[in-house]
Amino acid sequence: MRKTIIAANWKMHNTLEEGLNLAVEIKQQLLPADNLEAVLCTPYIHLYHMHELFKDVAFVAIGAQNCHQETHGAYTGEVSAGMLKGLNIQYVILGHSERRQYFGETDTIIRQKVDQALAAGLKPIYCCGEPLEVRHHNAHHMLVHEQISEALFHLTPEQIQQVVIAYEPVWAIGTGVVATPDQAQDMHAFIRRSLAQQFGEQVANAVSILYGGSMKPDNAAELLALPDVDGGLIGGASLKADQYLAIYNAARG
Ligand code: PGA
Repeated sequence: MRKTIIAANWKMHNTLEEGLNLAVEIKQQLLPADNLEAVLCTPYIHLYHMHELFKDVAFVAIGAQNCHQETHGAYTGEVSAGMLKGLNIQYVILGHSERRQYFGETDTIIRQKVDQALAAGLKPIYCCGEPLEVRHHNAHHMLVHEQISEALFHLTPEQIQQVVIAYEPVWAIGTGVVATPDQAQDMHAFIRRSLAQQFGEQVANAVSILYGGSMKPDNAAELLALPDVDGGLIGGASLKADQYLAIYNAARG
């Protein structure tokens, strides 16, 4: 059975001290549940400390927000998947729309990053999703299909089961405008059907597909109850312990 995952994406927020305070507050109140995992994706500089803080808590995993597409080399300022694995963290967000928009990441680059992450033993949280104008042109299914096929469809059935997919409509990220349950379920089911065509139904049913984009305590329960929504990737609301915990608890049911 696929896991439900409530992943926090802290983006470029929190000094180490602020991040540790937030993480300690979360740790004090987080309770386990069957088949549910909390993932904290923090800035690189927090990762070592986050792993230390949560290493004895089996239902909490730590993730990075990016890695470089090469194993090593003269890439000043960059961090490789192998270096992240060396910190004993488990996940890495790849292909977030902010990376695509502000750092020029293409599906080809993201595909290389996915390969690096898997080769290093990290689980990619692969982000896809359409800008508003694409939805207005009714081309959102086509675009998301292109994104997932270019970055993921070369993988083996074993590898794709190590990948978590996050559907994040760009128009919902950080805007307070959330996808309706119908819009979310429609796209998640479409992604799963596409995975089934490529990898078979059994494999498609094993892949967790998260929703991201203005998920908040007041809309989380409805979204998380949808049959093809297997959790959330949470930005703004993950920066406040009470809000993150409320979303996590909505998933606990
Ligand atoms: P948001 O961000 O929850 O602030 O909309 C989600 C994300 O970018 O992953």
